[in-house]
Amino acid sequence: MRTPLIAGNWKMNKTASEAVRFTRELVQQPLSTSAIDVVIAPPFTALAAVRDSLGPAPAIGLGAQNLHWEDHGAYTGEISAPMLKDLGCRYVILGHSERRAQFGEQDDLIHKKLLAALKHELKPILCVGESLSERESGTTAEVIEQQLNGCLAGFEPARLTNLIIAYEPVWAIGTGKAATPEQAAEVHQLIRRALTAGWSASVAASTRILYGGSVTPQNVEGFLASPDIDGALVGGACLQVDSFATIARLAQKQTGH
Ligand code: PGA
Repeated sequence: MRTPLIAGNWKMNKTASEAVRFTRELVQQPLSTSAIDVVIAPPFTALAAVRDSLGPAPAIGLGAQNLHWEDHGAYTGEISAPMLKDLGCRYVILGHSERRAQFGEQDDLIHKKLLAALKHELKPILCVGESLSERESGTTAEVIEQQLNGCLAGFEPARLTNLIIAYEPVWAIGTGKAATPEQAAEVHQLIRRALTAGWSASVAASTRILYGGSVTPQNVEGFLASPDIDGALVGGACLQVDSFATIARLAQKQTGH
């Protein structure tokens, strides 16, 4: 059984003080996380403050949005996996399309970051997704397979037990034009087939695959109704307590708890 996961990607939003106000409000929401995992990924600068505001034994997990592949060294401006672990992070988003498009991240670099995350027992949320022109030219499957093969090359299946994948079609991110649940489910199935072929049936069965791209309280149930969609990576709608908590509540409800 895959535990549904709702993750909020704050991107470059909220100062540490704003993050504290948000988190204090979020933890007061009537939100049961007995059957789902809920994660928030604030900017690096707010991680410590958010961790403190979540309190001891938090029901909500902490994630980062990126890391450097080395543990330490002369990498001005970078943050490593041990630094994130030390701050209480349990998750890290890797290979987001904004990092690919705006910061030149390619699959081989994301591969190195995945190695670092797994070495330090951070659960990676590996983002894959096609652009609009790739979808329109019918190369979605090829693009996704290439991204998976490039990022996950050489990993023993046993190393991938903590892997989480987020399917985020680039054309759906921040556009208000979410994929349909059918479009998403089709790619999620394709990802599972690729995981079976390239790694193992058990990796394919255990890996949680999230949908991301304009997820809202209004459309999240449609995605979660699909047996191949194990949760959501939420951008814009995670920045308000109400909408993020509602999305998490709907995910919890869907599990029957
Ligand atoms: P969005 O972003 O929900 O604002 O489309 C999702 C993401 O980029 O992870």
